[in-house]
Amino acid sequence: MNIAAQPPVQTDQTIYLKDYQKPSFLVDSIHLDIQVYEDHTIVDSTLVMKRQASGSLTLLGRDLELKSINLNGQVLNSDQYELDSEQLVIIDAPDEVILQTQVIIHPESNTQLEGLYKAGDLYVTQNEPEGFRKITFYPDRPDVLSVFTTRVEADKKYPVLLANGNLLETGEVDENRHFAIWQDPTKKPSYLFACVIGDLAVLKDRYTTSEGRDVALEIYAVEKDIPKCHIAMEALKHSMRWDEEHYGRPYDLDNYMIVAVSQFNMGAMENKGLNIFNTSCVLADEEYTTDAAIMRVQSVIAHEYFHNWTGNRITCRDWFQLCLKEGLTVFRDQSFSEDLQSAAVQRIDDVAVLKSHQFPEDAGPLSHPPRPDHFVEINNFYTATVYEKGAEINRMMATLLGKDKYRQGTDEYFERHDGQAVTVEDWVAALSAGSGVDLSNFLTWYNQPGTPKLEVNGAYDATAQTYRLSFKQSLKAHPKYPNLKAVPIPIALALFNAKSGEQYTLHSADLFVNDVKDGMYLFEQDEATIEFIGITEQPVVSLLRNFSAPVNLVFDYSNDDLAFLIQHETNGFNQWQATQTLLERILLEDHKADTYIDAIKNTLPDLVNKDPLLASRLFDVPSENYLGSRIDQDYEPELIREKREAVLDRLARELGSFWKETYLSLDPDMQKEFSLAMGVRALKNIMLSMLARQGDDSVFDLAYAQYQQTGNMSERLGALRVLVWNDAPQAQLALDDFYNRFKDEALSLDQWFTIQASHPCATAETIEYLTKHADYDLGTPNRIRSVSGGLASNPVNTWSFGVDHFIELAAYLDEKNPILGSRLLQVLSRWYTLMEPQRSQVQQALKALQPKVKSKNVSETLNSLLSI
Ligand code: TRP
Ligand code: ZN
Repeated sequence: MNIAAQPPVQTDQTIYLKDYQKPSFLVDSIHLDIQVYEDHTIVDSTLVMKRQASGSLTLLGRDLELKSINLNGQVLNSDQYELDSEQLVIIDAPDEVILQTQVIIHPESNTQLEGLYKAGDLYVTQNEPEGFRKITFYPDRPDVLSVFTTRVEADKKYPVLLANGNLLETGEVDENRHFAIWQDPTKKPSYLFACVIGDLAVLKDRYTTSEGRDVALEIYAVEKDIPKCHIAMEALKHSMRWDEEHYGRPYDLDNYMIVAVSQFNMGAMENKGLNIFNTSCVLADEEYTTDAAIMRVQSVIAHEYFHNWTGNRITCRDWFQLCLKEGLTVFRDQSFSEDLQSAAVQRIDDVAVLKSHQFPEDAGPLSHPPRPDHFVEINNFYTATVYEKGAEINRMMATLLGKDKYRQGTDEYFERHDGQAVTVEDWVAALSAGSGVDLSNFLTWYNQPGTPKLEVNGAYDATAQTYRLSFKQSLKAHPKYPNLKAVPIPIALALFNAKSGEQYTLHSADLFVNDVKDGMYLFEQDEATIEFIGITEQPVVSLLRNFSAPVNLVFDYSNDDLAFLIQHETNGFNQWQATQTLLERILLEDHKADTYIDAIKNTLPDLVNKDPLLASRLFDVPSENYLGSRIDQDYEPELIREKREAVLDRLARELGSFWKETYLSLDPDMQKEFSLAMGVRALKNIMLSMLARQGDDSVFDLAYAQYQQTGNMSERLGALRVLVWNDAPQAQLALDDFYNRFKDEALSLDQWFTIQASHPCATAETIEYLTKHADYDLGTPNRIRSVSGGLASNPVNTWSFGVDHFIELAAYLDEKNPILGSRLLQVLSRWYTLMEPQRSQVQQALKALQPKVKSKNVSETLNSLLSI
């Protein structure tokens, strides 16, 4: 037999939840010694390990150059271990092991931003989920918890040497080099290990916990960015207090450090006591960053801080449980943000993200349960489904329990599992035991893919004065997840008297009543009917208030009912939902826009003064991308754009002088609170773009004046956008001015790239100009996203010249930064819905990429995209 002629063995790289096995060895302690040199780094490690189950002693390691290995004091010969590109297996290891290894790694040329890497002049780590194996050989899995002692040594030109825990010692090695030794007293998994080596300035503050612990707070950033760290520092103190008050969780170390890094794949990372943040999620300043970015900084600061209890003190048994820590922590940061600004607007913004990202993901080739049961590359599962749908599951359970019982449930979880690595089942069991309410049915939500469809029918009986609601739920079949079951759906609802606009007090035996007026019905079967009595007039029902469950609601509203809800619903979220439902009908089902226009005319002028932030959201028209995601076949992006533009033009026209009068009457500087000023700024920018639609060229003078006169980034960008997107005579002048003002401010300059890349009439040349610009940088994810994200916001452009852009980028990043490459490729996930011939063209382009990609990240995504 000719062996050479055989095709290479294609091993299936899929990992299954059902194959989980306890680790054979636990690590009592690890001593790391990291010596950084310009062209290499030496890592010595000493692991003290004990056997706890049968099986071999396996250490994971990738891209490590093994220099020496020593077991219980004896040098190991190469026949005493097996080494391949992924792991090191010790043959016949005894039950108690002290293993010493020395490896060489290359952070200076690590472009993948995983493990230890150099970002500019700064050395930082990113170890979640599997980066630690790129630093040293280790059982790199979240259920192995250990005490870490870390010595970092580097040239004195890097004065800052940080690692997790307490600083034990610092000193000089010689004239040029120095070191620091840190010890983290709490046991933790390797993905929470971090170190930072560089030249950074620091903003310091202090916080005293409810237990009286005095905590040193430090935010590290480059000198010129320190003034932009105050908002984050305030948010951190606020988060610490919030977690004490709402979950009874005080902080547990004497210091808490945050480091801002300009090259980072995600938002931020919760490493124990040493968070590492993308600059975009920590730097906040009116002059340089937008209001939306400031809100995001506060929520990410809270998110990473909240991980200290939900993620770090209690961690995940395996990566299938990722949504245990992420879903819960997102729910916690959303609740925190609801307390910061208007709760209704925060909910609107969170649901908008859910519907525009998670719903489409869950309806397409990348659909998976919040807790998947198999994966090839875990980095591909940091998804909207794990994070956002995961948060919704926790929100449903919390709403159902109410404040007190939910707190009893979470108390029980912390009581039971502190210091452990646990599963989603453990969480739901603790929540049930603590609250006394059996929530085990909610596990179904974690285990199934797809957005449930909730069909509701209403019938009013005027004679009997009853109103009957019948419910039906269903899920689309999924090839990999058969046996789909009904899920528990909490439905918050209200009935309004159609004549008087008053809300009915609800009476129904089936109702789980939170307060007298607000009803909550828990729908757990495939079908059910409930009845309300004492309904004296035809009612209008408002369903899923606050979006009480992540489902697709189908209810036969008349357009007048929706207009009624826009005007009379007291729940701000459902008021917004009514505008969106009405607009979806106009844009996707060709309903007339009249009812919508009238409802806006009747409601908004009043609301603009009463609640500017909410008013700004009620002008929302669903994005082209969102509308596209609602179309499953023969999707024509141009058609959607035309229709959407037509509605916006009509709205601009029909509200006449309202836009200009309101624009001139609004003054954000008169507002006392940030969230009010933010609302006023959002409104002013809406008014400007509506004025531009009215075709009155004097708007460009207003916009240019706003651009020049403000010191606030939201106002400046809003004006710049109107000028650039409308090709105003002042557009180039303003763009050049912006560039000159902000060329040394990476986050602001990102916006300059985005505004041009997201120009509705951007062309392949626009994108080429931007990606060839001297300030474009393929080593900085934020800069890549500033162009690619801008382009992706326009489906017409994405699906024409954008296809090549995303495919070329994925091919390039496949080697350089596969985590990012895989994420950017997901922009093309709805290719199969396109109208021919576009559909086949994109399919061909994707197929042509297949033989070129090597990383598990990009190939898994590509294979899924093509498997539909
Ligand atoms: N755990 C981080 C969070 O707070 C997510 C994260 C940060 C991450 N950096 C990463 C995940 C890199 C994968 C790769 O949500
Ligand atoms: Zn997180």
